[in-house]
Amino acid sequence: MSQQPGVPQGIDPNTPNVARMYDYVLGGKDNYAADRELSGHLIASIPDGVEAIRANRRFLGRAISYVAGQGIDQFIDLGAGLPNQGNVHEVAQSLHPHARVVYVDIDPIVIAHARALLAADDRTAALQADMREPETVLASAEVARLIDFSRPVGVIFNAMLHFVTDEEDPAAIVAAFTDRMAPGSHLVISHSTLDDRPADLVEIIETAYENASAPMVFRDYDRILRMFNGLRLVEPGLVKLNRWHADAAEAAQSGGAWLYGGIAVK
Ligand SMILES: C[S@@+](CC[C@H](N)C(=O)[O-])C[C@H]1O[C@@H](n2cnc3c(N)ncnc32)[C@H](O)[C@@H]1O
Repeated sequence: MSQQPGVPQGIDPNTPNVARMYDYVLGGKDNYAADRELSGHLIASIPDGVEAIRANRRFLGRAISYVAGQGIDQFIDLGAGLPNQGNVHEVAQSLHPHARVVYVDIDPIVIAHARALLAADDRTAALQADMREPETVLASAEVARLIDFSRPVGVIFNAMLHFVTDEEDPAAIVAAFTDRMAPGSHLVISHSTLDDRPADLVEIIETAYENASAPMVFRDYDRILRMFNGLRLVEPGLVKLNRWHADAAEAAQSGGAWLYGGIAVK
């Protein structure tokens, strides 16, 4: 395949890419026609699809505020996505100016943008890695430099475990990280679901993701709960995002019902 003008080496602009689709829906500029086309199809088919993604991003903000509010000042953000409003280090450093964050993503464009944004901040790092190989992440120079596992840490899997298949055992991947966490550490998970969702939309969504860079695996409540590996969930437990520490406006919008979210403490 010859390289297209303006497209970085090693990037395939013709396969819809989940990180760039997410960026497009959130109003970002780091996406190509194939990403916009599939996103546009999903937006047209699912009335509250855009709202679901925004609700996920708002949940991330509330979750990090909560965890940082418990005194946690170091985070690993797995499947971090393209930098957008309310990045983890911005929320965490608003409570703890010295807070440290390691962003991990498999996508080279995500990492290039994250490094550009974070260049001047020695409290943060961006690591290109596949989090299905936890040992690689945990043994990285970035984690060694910024994360002290003898103290509580926040580990975040926000809207990314649904890109891991059952065969790849998402609960075991989460456990590889939580096993390293000191007591008092927090685990944040959000995950898409089709529980109580309109049946006619289910097929549209599943078909749409077949040709994307990663499949979307929707899971029900019990299967997502299992990913917490028995850690104690804080109130209100694992709930739809529009019910997690939500004000009246958040609770009133339906987009958050496409994902479950919860936080657990070790
Ligand atoms: C939907 S975005 C979520 C972004 C962010 N966590 C949030 O909630 O706003 C999912 C991200 O996970 C990344 N991702 C998917 N599979 C991954 C893997 N195996 N290892 C690391 N990152 C992965 C994608 O590149 C994408 O940036």
